[in-house]
Amino acid sequence: MRFLVTAGPTREHLDPVRFLSNRSTGRMGFAVAAAAAAAGHECLLVAGPVSLPTPDGVERVDVVSALEMLDAVKSGLEDADALVMCAAVADWRPKAFAPTKLKKEGMAPVIELERNPDILKSIAPMKGGRIFVGFAAETGDPCEEATRKLAAKGLDMIVANDVSKPDSGFAVDTNRVTFLFPSGRRTYLPLLKKSEVAARIVAAVEAMA
Ligand code: CTP
Repeated sequence: MRFLVTAGPTREHLDPVRFLSNRSTGRMGFAVAAAAAAAGHECLLVAGPVSLPTPDGVERVDVVSALEMLDAVKSGLEDADALVMCAAVADWRPKAFAPTKLKKEGMAPVIELERNPDILKSIAPMKGGRIFVGFAAETGDPCEEATRKLAAKGLDMIVANDVSKPDSGFAVDTNRVTFLFPSGRRTYLPLLKKSEVAARIVAAVEAMA
């Protein structure tokens, strides 16, 4: 199979030195790309700004903003059999980008924002027979929100995790996740290394192919 995996945060620049972003480190997405390659699949990894080495056997495209990620996903999708959207895409971007560094004098202390596109919703018409997997990183019980996102984004599976726990979520090597499927079936995984969660995600995709 050919996997398309997104990872990391996006950055939404205000000016050349300032941006809005989030705490994603890209570890989960890089682990999924590594697991896909290790299982003998081709893999294109679309990475936001992270400091991680490219896994062996993985082709990588670096992007910065959500709009760039959308373009890279659209062009990678044609050849892909499965998409795993691990990226923490910023939902908003500053309305204006200043090409030179903003100065505090004369600036109002307000940043006007506009919505970024939802990548999964934007590419839904291109889905065809491809398998789409999303992530739902929530604080508190993630399954209710994950169920909503699974349907709203037309996914075949969503990986729900509670990022408020110290051993699950951002910047740690472990994750405790639940797989949710449109049939209502759920697979609760124990606390596992992200590399093991990634291998289970790849196996779940293989089982749906
Ligand atoms: N996602 C996306 N495009 C966005 C935001 C999110 O494709 N602009 C994808 C993520 O990569 C993830 C899934 O949608 O696979 C859920 O992301 P999440 O940030 O939890 O969802 P949102 O739709 O942003 O929901 P909310 O802000 O209501 O939590």
